[in-house]
Amino acid sequence: MIRSGVIGFPVKHSRSPLIHGYWLKRHGIDGSYDKIEVAPDGLKAFLAGMREASFAGCNVTLPHKERAASLIPNLDERARRIGSVNTVYFSRGELSATSSDGYGFVQNLRWRNPSLDLKGRRVVMLGAGGSARAIVDELLQEGVAQVTVANRTVARAAELAESFGSRMAAAALHEADDHLRDCGLLINTTSAGIADTAKLTVAFDMLPRGALVTDISYVPLLTPFLADAQRAGCLTTDGLGMLLHQAVPGFELWFGIRPEVTDELYDIVAGDIAPGTGS
Ligand SMILES: NC(=O)c1ccc[n+]([C@@H]2O[C@H](COP(=O)([O-])OP(=O)(O)OC[C@H]3O[C@@H](n4cnc5c(N)ncnc54)[C@H](OP(=O)(O)O)[C@@H]3O)[C@@H](O)[C@H]2O)c1
Repeated sequence: MIRSGVIGFPVKHSRSPLIHGYWLKRHGIDGSYDKIEVAPDGLKAFLAGMREASFAGCNVTLPHKERAASLIPNLDERARRIGSVNTVYFSRGELSATSSDGYGFVQNLRWRNPSLDLKGRRVVMLGAGGSARAIVDELLQEGVAQVTVANRTVARAAELAESFGSRMAAAALHEADDHLRDCGLLINTTSAGIADTAKLTVAFDMLPRGALVTDISYVPLLTPFLADAQRAGCLTTDGLGMLLHQAVPGFELWFGIRPEVTDELYDIVAGDIAPGTGS
């Protein structure tokens, strides 16, 4: 049996076992994918013992994404650029890792908007956390014209912008509306509005016609941010597809088959997210 799973602390909220369990069954693979709670002081030992415990690899979630990147010897270019990982595997016997969060983000946009062309688009990104970093990297690889990062803590936005070069700009979160007039893609990567925190107020009516609005939070599926965008008549894409698409590279690396993200899989995971509970 091929063994895999997701490590985090806590990890009980993870919906990744639903996704990988669906693909294992669909492809008739003798494999497992489990939730594995690993405390920060146990991360190094877990990674060192993976081969002996018969793991083909694992996903890595909070709070381990950055630290795992510093402990794993063989990182691919993406992981090196962003300094965090979410997928661990063995390559020619060596413990290796990549990050598929940015890939999952872009694939989800393409899945839901097949004619989307990111080249030359101007992007406004709200938030400058770990996910924002992975998404910025992928968008720049896709050829967007500019990414303006607007964050509550401006210094964090400035740091992110600086580390990715000339197509980047930084702003305070309350200045984000000033950048919407020529924005082709507006992304919320903050957790504002989730779990009883105040939602963001955004002047969606400033966006040009045809701009796409997306939120990477997916609990609830229709976040307060997306609900406001829809009320203003914007085209929107929810964040659950990002979770589904980021799982694809790991499954292929561990089990040898590239799985498909289907509407059926989306509905299964969506069914596990109770509307409006935030859990
Ligand atoms: N769809 C997916 O597959 C996927 C993948 C990864 C993450 N996510 C979701 O994405 C969200 C962010 O994850 P992350 O790992 O990037 O988190 P993170 O590193 O902790 O960053 C959180 C970001 O949200 C901002 N923020 C938090 N509370 C805020 C508030 N009340 N008002 C304004 N800004 C606020 C923070 O601003 P400061 O810098 O000022 O603190 C920071 O920019 C989470 O909800 C997570 O569940 C989804």
